Amino acid sequence: MLSARAHSLHIRNLCKHYGRVKAVDDVSFTVARGSFLTLLGPSGSGKTTILMAIAGFVDPTSGDILVDDRVITTLPPEQRNFGMVFQGYALFPHLSVGDNVAFPLNVRKRPKSEVTERVKQALDLVQLGHLADRMPKQLSGGQQQRVALARALVFQPEMLLLDEPLSALDKKLRAELQWELKSLHERVGMTFIYVTHDQEEALTMSDEVAILRDGKIVQSGPPSALYETPRTRFVADFLGKSNFLSGTIEAADGQGFTYRCGQHRFAQARGTGRPGDSVLVSLRPEKLDIAADKPAAPANAIPADILRWSYFGTGVHFQLQAEGIGEVTVTRPSWRLAAPLEVGKRVWLTWDADATTPVADDLRPAS
Ligand SMILES: Nc1ncnc2c1ncn2[C@@H]1O[C@H](COP(=O)(O)OP(=O)(O)O)[C@@H](O)[C@H]1O
Ligand SMILES: [Mg+2]
Repeated sequence: MLSARAHSLHIRNLCKHYGRVKAVDDVSFTVARGSFLTLLGPSGSGKTTILMAIAGFVDPTSGDILVDDRVITTLPPEQRNFGMVFQGYALFPHLSVGDNVAFPLNVRKRPKSEVTERVKQALDLVQLGHLADRMPKQLSGGQQQRVALARALVFQPEMLLLDEPLSALDKKLRAELQWELKSLHERVGMTFIYVTHDQEEALTMSDEVAILRDGKIVQSGPPSALYETPRTRFVADFLGKSNFLSGTIEAADGQGFTYRCGQHRFAQARGTGRPGDSVLVSLRPEKLDIAADKPAAPANAIPADILRWSYFGTGVHFQLQAEGIGEVTVTRPSWRLAAPLEVGKRVWLTWDADATTPVADDLRPAS
């Protein structure tokens, strides 16, 4: 089989400075053996630089990189034995699909019979066994990227590094390949380190996601933990959509608190603070609801007017003007909508105390 023994990766206090630019600023994380970790962040946040340092193409300014308990910080790239896939397909245009995949084995001077066998296995793994004789230009973008994957896996690398490998593909193909990559990861059992700026992609595929901003990891964890309990406004906003309410804590009891927002008082479960503290609360659009009548306590509720709505197939986005709060976005599944909700209609915006998350406000402009 193509699966090799899985390895763990440890990044310790990694820094990479270009003059005064701190591309990577004291980053530490661990990728467990056989795990799928994604580095997620906006453009320029340092994702590629970290991946290139792991691959050995960027010399860190300081810090260490370990595979299991072996320090590899200064090891040349060719001695690291990592598979890599990049955004561009980067296949050799003059070599057939089969010869492209054979390339890493030929460089390593593996015997002919082994090359034939492994190339077949690798192409079967990405469901391209029937296209071994084609030239790259005769393949679609998605097929070319699968060949690149087969070529990266064929020599049984210690781990696979992928830098935005799907970003050149259209949306539908990208979604298909996300599933395929995830299933491939499960079948080969290898450690994968994936880089993307696409939050949905990160959530869909990863065991763990590390969110980067300005060269630093701002939060990391399993996708659901990051989505459900973002610690900061940046994370809540970057990982999905969110509304934000700012207010002042009135009372707290260790389980949660109540806070005042203009003339309204809301309950927040899961949260700490002291009376008088300012708070910022993240409200995911899909955790809000619209009701015709004022709901019974203890649900939070505000009168609101429907400003506009848009239907997108599986759901409907509503823009509401909430009394004393401002504009709020609500997303409801379209099959749940009973009566038509018209623009201008007065409704109740409601949510449960445990549907929201207090976050730190880190979106004041960074210096
Ligand atoms: N070779 C380089 N020389 C100077 N600055 C660089 C170099 N490579 C990256 N940078 C800078 O480092 C920061 C992080 O870049 P990068 O790792 O490519 O980000 P990402 O992959 O998240 O878009 C950016 O500000 C970028 O301009
Ligand atoms: Mg990049």
